[in-house]
Amino acid sequence: MIPDSSADSAARPIAIIGGTGPAGTGVALRWARAGETIIIGSREAQRAEQTAKIIQQKAGPGAKVSGMENSAACAAANILVLTVPFEGQAALVKQLKPAIAPGSILIDATVPLAASVGGRASRTLGVWQGSAAQQTAELVPEKVSVVAAFHNLSADLLNGDAPLDCDVIVCSDDPEASRLARQLAAKIPGVRALDGGKLENARIVEQITALLIGLNIRHKGHAGIRITGLPPQAYR
Ligand SMILES: NC(=O)c1ccc[n+]([C@@H]2O[C@H](COP(=O)([O-])OP(=O)(O)OC[C@H]3O[C@@H](n4cnc5c(N)ncnc54)[C@H](OP(=O)(O)O)[C@@H]3O)[C@@H](O)[C@H]2O)c1
Repeated sequence: MIPDSSADSAARPIAIIGGTGPAGTGVALRWARAGETIIIGSREAQRAEQTAKIIQQKAGPGAKVSGMENSAACAAANILVLTVPFEGQAALVKQLKPAIAPGSILIDATVPLAASVGGRASRTLGVWQGSAAQQTAELVPEKVSVVAAFHNLSADLLNGDAPLDCDVIVCSDDPEASRLARQLAAKIPGVRALDGGKLENARIVEQITALLIGLNIRHKGHAGIRITGLPPQAYR
């Protein structure tokens, strides 16, 4: 069963796998400020605990942030967010598979950047399954829903204090899991979340990140995206 997004957030912690990097710490900080219970995951428990302490201090009193080794973090939560480089994604998901409970949702922010194999960060790799998120979907246990989201948010901006100016396109084959991910995205100030349809559309959303990185290099900024022309109910 998909975790209830309206339930008490303390009863449904969010585990951020690879949460010690900028993408993971950024969403962790924003959700901790919004009252969510966060578990930072790392290959090293000590690194996770240190990172959790820093986020806790930044998020302020009352924030609920802890740190654990990745598989312990998976076992302690049924909302998982994957923020690791593409080169480590498949091996890590295979390793964590036994710790992921049926009924969990896994939100994948991985972008298959060519930088993973020594190429440019403004180019992407072809993924046999179609996208990094579809690769994850092949590797998770049965009855685990995979959602692709958060690819186009700047980690630099997430780790700051100002509201963002970006839409999050959420793709999943499970409408309930997509809805939950959109509700979490909308907790980040300045972010609107959009249902981007099936998981196969993650291929397109992942590619946009490479374009944004190229724009950032060229114009020295923190590019994001806004989708216009849709009725207000589309951003729910
Ligand atoms: N940075 C951004 O602005 C941004 C925005 C949107 C999406 N993304 C995507 O989100 C993902 C994470 O981005 P990031 O910039 O935070 O990446 P990162 O700093 O390179 O890595 C994040 C964490 O992943 C773990 N990790 C590194 N290599 C690993 C491996 N081979 N196997 C398992 N774990 C490994 C590390 O944690 P431990 O060493 O503690 O285990 C690291 O702190 C990437 O796929 C990226 O494309 C990034």
